[in-house]
This record gives sequence, structure tokens and C-alpha cells, in this order.
Amino acid sequence: MREKIRFFCTACGQETLKWGGKCLGCGAWNSMVEQPVSKALPSHRPRGENPAPMSLASIKTENISRISTGSRELDRVVGGGLVPGSVVLVGGEPGIGKSTLLMAAGNAAAACGRRVIYASGEESMEQLKLRAERLQAEYSELYVTPETDAAALVSQVQALKGEILVVDSIQTMSVAELPSAAGSIGQVRESAARMVRLAKETGAVVILVGHVTKDGAIAGPKLLEHMVDAVLYFEGDKHMSFRLLRAVKNRFGSTSEVGVFSMQGTGLKDVENPSELLLAERPLDVVGSVVVPVIEGTRPVLIEMQALLAPTGYGTPRRTTAGVESNRVAMILAVLERRVGLEVSFQDSYVNAVGGIRVSDTAADLAVAVSLASSLRNTRIDRGLAVVGEIGLTGEVRGVGRIEARITEAAKLGFRHIIIPQRNAAEAAARDVPRIKVHPVDTLAAALTATWNL
Ligand code: TYD
Ligand code: MG
Repeated sequence: MREKIRFFCTACGQETLKWGGKCLGCGAWNSMVEQPVSKALPSHRPRGENPAPMSLASIKTENISRISTGSRELDRVVGGGLVPGSVVLVGGEPGIGKSTLLMAAGNAAAACGRRVIYASGEESMEQLKLRAERLQAEYSELYVTPETDAAALVSQVQALKGEILVVDSIQTMSVAELPSAAGSIGQVRESAARMVRLAKETGAVVILVGHVTKDGAIAGPKLLEHMVDAVLYFEGDKHMSFRLLRAVKNRFGSTSEVGVFSMQGTGLKDVENPSELLLAERPLDVVGSVVVPVIEGTRPVLIEMQALLAPTGYGTPRRTTAGVESNRVAMILAVLERRVGLEVSFQDSYVNAVGGIRVSDTAADLAVAVSLASSLRNTRIDRGLAVVGEIGLTGEVRGVGRIEARITEAAKLGFRHIIIPQRNAAEAAARDVPRIKVHPVDTLAAALTATWNL
């Protein structure tokens, strides 16, 4: 017997028998998703089992043994290894390296005797084998399957007693009960729900791969994020080797962790010292380039900020940015014009955080301003200088967090001078990092003077 289908509005929960482009309940457009309604589906909890409240003290956590993925970076991002019975969603643009990372992680777990099932609806078994060969993955406990039917996959995992399941990708999975195509919101949601149930019932770790749409959301349902225990995003420039894995949600660890990898011929390799890699190709003593220590996750990373100003031909000036927020750059340009008196309003501006990293730390403001000013004046910046500070609308330089970690990282990579906010001066003086001279400033104008005087 075919199961009944109902349609639900994801915005207000309205239930209907027929699909509509507009919800009759709340008027939202494109919010109706289908869902099977069936008595046959097992409930989340076996009947008759009513758990009584327990004292927290009586709950033991020592028997939660985390499973290592063989990568220090990945283990750190998930909070020290994968937790049995948990569901992890790994999102990222196509080609960024999700399959590579998870194949390697699966292999490492298989090497420790865990039974791993890698379900791929995206690639043929031969393609998977080729990738595994590049990664030197060849453990007999690593199984691959082309299964894209969620229910069939669940039975396969149960039959094999799989301990880790990788679903690559959740957008290729479907359930037979729904009429829509794989990848539709209803299918993705229902398939994911089955995987979540599998994890909770069998204690297997389920890793779902999710493709990300251009605006950065995991395609289709943001809903997936609520269903899983951890959400990790893979980011970086596809054409460069550098990759960041960021936890945006984690029920078993901190979300401030970031894993750093580099893509090589034999897969993704952990990067122990990101600053070194990022600064490897930095041109020295040039116009419009300066280094800033930003905080990525819990650690400081040195990033090269580049800027170029060129007179606007006619019309409105272009404002192009890569890796930094364009609104932030527009504000800094306005502050340079009005508070420092630099004429930037008839200049096209290009700002680039080198390495394909998206910088969200406002402590990078000062680096943007200094590199822009350097480009306008056509003045070189000393290669041994790093700058850090947030810029306010009155042209003041505002304090930043974790100043000691930033100064130490700059000193470690051989920087001899660092411009920091006046507000952080006392803290910096108390720690007194050796081999680097600290220049505290309270305004952007003072920061520029200090830069030209080096
Ligand atoms: P992939 O893991 O297939 O990306 P995703 O699953 O996120 O779509 O990796 C894509 C790129 O990585 C591909 O262009 C080739 C490159 N790559 C390497 O450079 N080295 C390797 O060892 C592997 C396996 C892939
Ligand atoms: Mg892939």
C-alpha cells in the first residue's frame, strides 16, 4: 500500500492535501514540502518505555569513547573525535574536498578496526576506488555502495553492522514514499530524518555531506542544521590549496574551532602552522600589502592584506573585495577620506585577503586601511611590520581581543614591529613578548604616521 502524502508549510506548519506555490495559512511562497504520513513508520521510541528523570550525577560519560578520524585537525573541529550515535553535517561548495576528507577519515577509522560504509550517489564505484588509491586507502573494513534509497541504505548499514556511515551527498538520497525528485526539500529532509534515526537507534556515526548553494546556505533546507548534532563548513578557494573547516554548530564540542588543511596530490593534509603557509608567497617591501594577525577559531593566523587604488575612469568608483566584507571596506574608505583627509572617493578600490580565507575578524580593519593608504601614497610598507586594530567611525583605533596571542604569532614568524590599539597597550606591555617592538596608537592617523616612520 502506498503511503499517504501530506504537504506542510515550513513557515507556519499548515497542513494540506495538495501542493501549492503559496501557503493558504500564512501566505508564504514556496514553503510547502511534502511528507509521508504513515502509521507504519516506527516511532522514535519503542512503546511502553517511559524514561524516568535521572539525576545528572548518576549519568556516566566515561563510556563515550570518541572515534579518531586520523586527522588531528578534523578531530579537533568535532571536539576530540566522532561521538558514536551522532550525526554530523559537512557542507561546502562542490570541488572543495568534502569527499576527499571523508574518504580519508573513513579509511583511518577502518584502519582502527571500525566498520565504515561510504555511500556515494555522486560518483561511480570506480571513481571512489581511484580516489581511495590516491589517498592510499585500502582497508578491508571500508565498504562502498552506490545506494541512494534511504530505506535500503539503512538496512544495508544494519545488516553490515556499520559503525560509521558517510552519505555523499544527502541531496542524492531519496525515499520511495515521496513522489518528488531526489534533492527536493521534502526528500532531503525525510532522508536525513531516516539517517538521524539510524544513528540514534544503532549508535552508528552518520556523516552527511551537503552541497552549499551560492549564497552560502546548505542547499534546500536550513532545516538539516537543526536535525543534526554538528554542522561543519568547508571553505577556501578551490584553486588554492588552503582549506578551512569551521564548526558552526557542535553539541559535543566548541564551535570556535577551525581546522586547517592543504589539498595535495595525495589528499588533504593537516596544516600545523597556517601562518607560514599563508605568508609563503608574500612579496616583500611592496606598496599596498601588510600583514595582520587575525584569530581563526582559537588560534592566531597571520594573513596578508593587499589593496590597490586606481583612479576611476568615469562614473561611480568600483569597490571590489575578496575575503573581506565589502561594507567594512566601504566604511574604512569613508573614514580615510573624512578623518584622515586622504582623497579616495575618485579611486577604484580593490582589497584582497590573500589565501582564499574569509576574514570576519574586525581586528583586520587597520590592515585594510594601512594597505589602502600605502597604495594611494605609493609608499612601501616595511616587510617586518604587522598591524592590528578595529577602526571606528570617528577615526579611532579600537581595542581587540587576545592581543598577546596575536603579538606572539607575529614575533614567531619574524615580524619586528607591530602596531596595536592604545587600549591593548597595558596588556601587551605586561606580557612583554621578546624580539618585537610594539607601537600602540589611538587613531588611524597615528597608525599611518607610525607606518611611514618605520
Ligand atoms: P572532492 O573531495 O571531490 O570535492 P567535493 O567532494 O567537495 O566536491 O575534491 C575535489 C578536488 O580535489 C578535485 O578537483 C581534485 C582535488 N584533489 C586533489 O588535489 N588531491 C587529491 O588527492 C584528491 C583526492 C583530490
Ligand atoms: Mg564529492
